[in-house]
Amino acid sequence: MSKKQFLSTDPYKGVRDFYPEDMAIQRYLFDVWSMTAESFGFERYDASVLEPSDMYRAKGAQNEEMVNDQTYTFTDRGDREVTLRPEMTPTVARMIAHKQRELAFPVRWYSIPNLFRYERTQRGRLREHWQLNCDIFGSTDVSADVELIALAYQIFINFGADESMFEIHVNDRALMTRLYRALGVSDEQIPEITRLNDRRNKISDEVYRAELTKIIGDETKAEEVILMLDNSDEQTDVMIGLHELGITNVVFDKSLARGFDYYTGTIFEIFDTDPENNRAMMGGGRYDNLTGLFSDEAVPGVGFGFGDVTLRNFLESHNLLTSDITSPTLTVIPTDVSLNIEGQKVAQQFRAAGISVATDIGTKKLQKKLKSASDTFVDYVLVLGDDEITSQKYTVKNLADGTEESGSIEDLITKIQN
Ligand code: HAM
Repeated sequence: MSKKQFLSTDPYKGVRDFYPEDMAIQRYLFDVWSMTAESFGFERYDASVLEPSDMYRAKGAQNEEMVNDQTYTFTDRGDREVTLRPEMTPTVARMIAHKQRELAFPVRWYSIPNLFRYERTQRGRLREHWQLNCDIFGSTDVSADVELIALAYQIFINFGADESMFEIHVNDRALMTRLYRALGVSDEQIPEITRLNDRRNKISDEVYRAELTKIIGDETKAEEVILMLDNSDEQTDVMIGLHELGITNVVFDKSLARGFDYYTGTIFEIFDTDPENNRAMMGGGRYDNLTGLFSDEAVPGVGFGFGDVTLRNFLESHNLLTSDITSPTLTVIPTDVSLNIEGQKVAQQFRAAGISVATDIGTKKLQKKLKSASDTFVDYVLVLGDDEITSQKYTVKNLADGTEESGSIEDLITKIQN
């Protein structure tokens, strides 16, 4: 007899299924992201995941590694080359350029797109991730750079983190150009060195030194560059601004490179201080010429992308996800399936008062139902048997401290609301 071949239930490599428990966390991340962005006056936008492939190859917009090795690109039925967006910045620059004449700058826009990169999957790196993108267009003022970093900082605080758990790294491309030139490095070599620096912590010191010498063509000069890079005691206006706002977990880091060609000034990344999570959680910078790909008058931009995968690792490492995220406030537990409809009736009255309620309509024993309510972080349970139904007097138990309150549904609504 031939055996039936089943399809695999695994998702495609490097992407995730979101079962309800994952979706609850994902929604929580997105809610804190959007709430914080809106508290800074950012407005939400969105776009399609499909973009013409040319956009990522344009000179000045490129991230070499990304375009050559990581894009999902295909030809559609009308012979157009299409790419699943690997990042949001070219898209938002295109949208800004499209409405450039109508917009009242500066504008603050945010979005939470899913992005696709054909990566070697590992901790913190997947083939589909979501990213909060916040960008300010139309201002060259340093306070825009400061504001964006302050916004990313506030996101961590709103997730319950404190300054000891993360570190903000700042660098400046314009300053680096001046420092390289002063060491006799030519302007053509600078982007190559920047790309190498972007890989510095992924390769050995030996390989790094060899590659740097190859780019510069002179070992002594390469050593001088390394000395310059490793001495990071600069103070930039951005750092001063952040200190003014009381944000002190900031370091100036000349080795910070960022992979994208479009950055022109401040660049920044945020890292977890837990060494288990060594990937940047957020990265961004100032890019004053990108919209110039689409029109002859470039609108300056500055912004960041903040990833969901690395953020979730961060929150788990620092035990910031243990609390009750989306479970209902109350679970009504009928003692027998014959009381399930009565259970729904009771639940409806609490819901009408704005309290979220689930009913456990399963066939398990009461003890099992109570355990499952407490495992899912429900705050209160109400056990419903014949006695409660006839007397119209009910008891809710607070699962956190074990205390009980009894009374009519109105009484209990008031108790829970307080
Ligand atoms: P990026 O550094 O490529 O920047 O990505 C920003 C963040 O997205 C990273 O720090 C990381 O948390 C997350 N991320 C990136 N790739 C992956 C991946 N394969 N798997 C999981 N997470 C990932 C940009 O994309 C710029 N466009 C950001 C920007 C906005 N610059 C200005 N405005």
